[in-house]
Amino acid sequence: MAEAGKGGADGKRVWTAEEIAADFERRTAGLKQVEAEVLGCPRCRLAQTRTHAVPGEGNFRSVVLFVGEGPGAEEDRQGRPFVGRSGQFLAENLQRIGLRRADVFITNVVKCRPPENRDPEPDEIAACADYLTRQIALINPRIIVTLGRVSMSRFFPGASITKVHGQYKNIGGGRVALAMFHPAAALRNPAWKEMFEQDIEQLPRLIERAHKANEAVLRGEALPAGVPHPGDVDYSEGKPAAPPSAAASAPTDAASEASAKPNRGGQMSLF
Ligand code: URA
Ligand code: SF4
Repeated sequence: MAEAGKGGADGKRVWTAEEIAADFERRTAGLKQVEAEVLGCPRCRLAQTRTHAVPGEGNFRSVVLFVGEGPGAEEDRQGRPFVGRSGQFLAENLQRIGLRRADVFITNVVKCRPPENRDPEPDEIAACADYLTRQIALINPRIIVTLGRVSMSRFFPGASITKVHGQYKNIGGGRVALAMFHPAAALRNPAWKEMFEQDIEQLPRLIERAHKANEAVLRGEALPAGVPHPGDVDYSEGKPAAPPSAAASAPTDAASEASAKPNRGGQMSLF
């Protein structure tokens, strides 16, 4: 029998129910802390014009995190992400692939509405970046779906959305990022709408693989070399794996985010 929290005699690192519960508590508290800080955040000029800051919401145990650009008018009114027309379109598309909105976690690059829905400025994105970094560490998603150019830029620096949409790539820390058009852009442009609807269809397969990898980690299995966790650039055989719910993964800094080439769906080389 493998001992709790240690490498067992058989070399397996088994996560106990107690450890998983403690990890759940830690993550709940961490996300509450981020939320509280965002709600009162004074770090950039968007604080002066917002009605409500929008920290994000959803199932933090989800393997998928959606990252939009920033709150619009309706989001600013309600303090919730993607509750306007874009949100409706996103929810319809989630439903089409068998997911409910509440199954996933949804947030934005900037947590406060830019006036007149202008693009967030680089200094605003920089001021807000730490909140998303902490949310990613706490949620520890296997798959980050970037919605739109601003969100894409964080994980696909220098890329063009019209080129990389529908592609995913290894971003380190056991994750892949999947680039998609912004729902609002899709609603404005019929060709992009069609591509959005196609691109989201990659998710069920990625999610299934993510669940399989998480289950293997929970069983204490060291996955064989060449069969890493989804997106795990620094995986090597026998390396103690973090529990799938933990934040012990490599930081998703720009260097590791930028380190791998995008893959087209279907050419799965990551798992
Ligand atoms: N557009 C975004 O980028 N985010 C939202 O939350 C709503 C609309
Ligand atoms: Fe703070 Fe981000 Fe809102 Fe700026 S956008 S005030 S950094 S929460």
